[in-house]
Amino acid sequence: MDRRTHDTSKDYERGGDTVLGSAEYVRQLHVGDNLGVMRRMETETVDLVYLDPPFNSNQNYRIVFRGPAELKSRAYLPAFEDVWSWDDESEDSFRELTLEWHGEPVGVAISGLLTVVGRDRMMAYLVNMTLRLIEIRRLLKPTGSVYLHCDPTASHYLKVLMDAVFGRENFRNEIVWCYRGGGVPRRDFARKHDLILRFSKSDEYVFNPQYTQYSQASMELVTRRGGVSVDGLERDLERGAHMTDWWSDINSLQTWSPERTGYPTQKPVRLLERIIRSSSNEGDLVLDPFCGCGTTLVAAERLGRQWAGIDVEPMSLNVLRARFEGEGIGSGFDVEGLPSVKPFDREGWAAMAVSEREQFERAVIGLIPGCVPWRNRQSKSGGMEGLMRLAGDAEIPNHAVINVVGGGPLSVKDVRRMMRTLDSETGDEVLIGVLASPFDVPAEVVETAIGAGEVVIDGRSCGVITTLGVDEVLGADFGIARR
Ligand SMILES: C[S@@+](CC[C@H](N)C(=O)[O-])C[C@H]1O[C@@H](n2cnc3c(N)ncnc32)[C@H](O)[C@@H]1O
Repeated sequence: MDRRTHDTSKDYERGGDTVLGSAEYVRQLHVGDNLGVMRRMETETVDLVYLDPPFNSNQNYRIVFRGPAELKSRAYLPAFEDVWSWDDESEDSFRELTLEWHGEPVGVAISGLLTVVGRDRMMAYLVNMTLRLIEIRRLLKPTGSVYLHCDPTASHYLKVLMDAVFGRENFRNEIVWCYRGGGVPRRDFARKHDLILRFSKSDEYVFNPQYTQYSQASMELVTRRGGVSVDGLERDLERGAHMTDWWSDINSLQTWSPERTGYPTQKPVRLLERIIRSSSNEGDLVLDPFCGCGTTLVAAERLGRQWAGIDVEPMSLNVLRARFEGEGIGSGFDVEGLPSVKPFDREGWAAMAVSEREQFERAVIGLIPGCVPWRNRQSKSGGMEGLMRLAGDAEIPNHAVINVVGGGPLSVKDVRRMMRTLDSETGDEVLIGVLASPFDVPAEVVETAIGAGEVVIDGRSCGVITTLGVDEVLGADFGIARR
């Protein structure tokens, strides 16, 4: 299934089509397609939306996971696709838009764009974005604003659509975010800026001006002239100059930036802090429907705003959780859109393991505290593996490989594969293997696992290979405390 259109909310959501009150999505991460989630959110409850959707770059992005330093492990897993094509779903969505918005700016704009662009991947992207922009407008309070982060690939078309959805009169800024670094093309100027289209819902929008330091030359001039510039107007040197719509003082994250999480296309927190400060007040609700590794949520938390995040990629949970812990947010947030962990929804997890094997495996690895994806593998026959450090006094820390296997019940083959993994690939630091499944484990599988023998860790004896239920891996301590 195409991850862009995957809608876990439909399959597993507690309330079906029920509308969620805003209290239900504050401090919540929703795993699923943002269209389905936003359609269930209550009208006019959000103060600020920042969205950083895929830009129609025709690329696939990977997340880099760094395992425990002592094992020098690194996994590169596919994160999200930004590759589009015009298909039946695009045709249906286009029809839906033109019927529902017939004769109105949205209907006219999208029909006009189809004439200009044609039925191609750009148009598929634009139709997809229009559906989401309509929901964003509905969710915004009359005082609210939206910032759409894009680049010149589609910004000119997106601006037309934003004009149609939000009204030309509500266009506030085209912010040019300039950055440095990265490669340069031989036959073009280097493309080193993104665009952030800022619209308000009405004329009653919140805006807190931001200031930036005057240049040295301006400061000297104004000081010489007793606080007045050449135009005869006073300048507040301490406060600084009113910020313009081109921002060149925040660079994009470089490979060595300490802020980097390994999540692709991660934006700098400072960029988001500026946006949030400008267009919201303390306690306001900030929504990021393409939240990735949670930059917006981290910035909102730091600035005392409420937040809600949506992302279709379950592995973003893994990155987000580690990031939130670093921010002291810890477990003070909810995850929705997946079958429930507490109380454990056994049937829901089992159904997901069959109908969406890959998403299931990624979600479970993403939810096991302290577990990091291991090796670049996720396969139909081998499931997905994570690695975690175990507590103990050993000078060299011990580790467990957690192999989450969806699709159907565990088989003896899975145990044998784990034996090979422990024997051949992990050296002495990985002592135990855990096979995790949401289904009943056949007796022969348990026997084969027991046959793999025992190992003593921290004075306690435990099975070299253990089979556990998903409920156990999400809550258990594997018989040994986690570090
Ligand atoms: C450009 S990244 C956002 C990065 C983010 N601003 C950050 O700093 O981490 C786009 C994100 O949108 C997510 N995404 C793509 N299509 C989606 C959809 N239909 N619903 C929810 N999330 C989606 C992808 O999984 C990806 O994490």
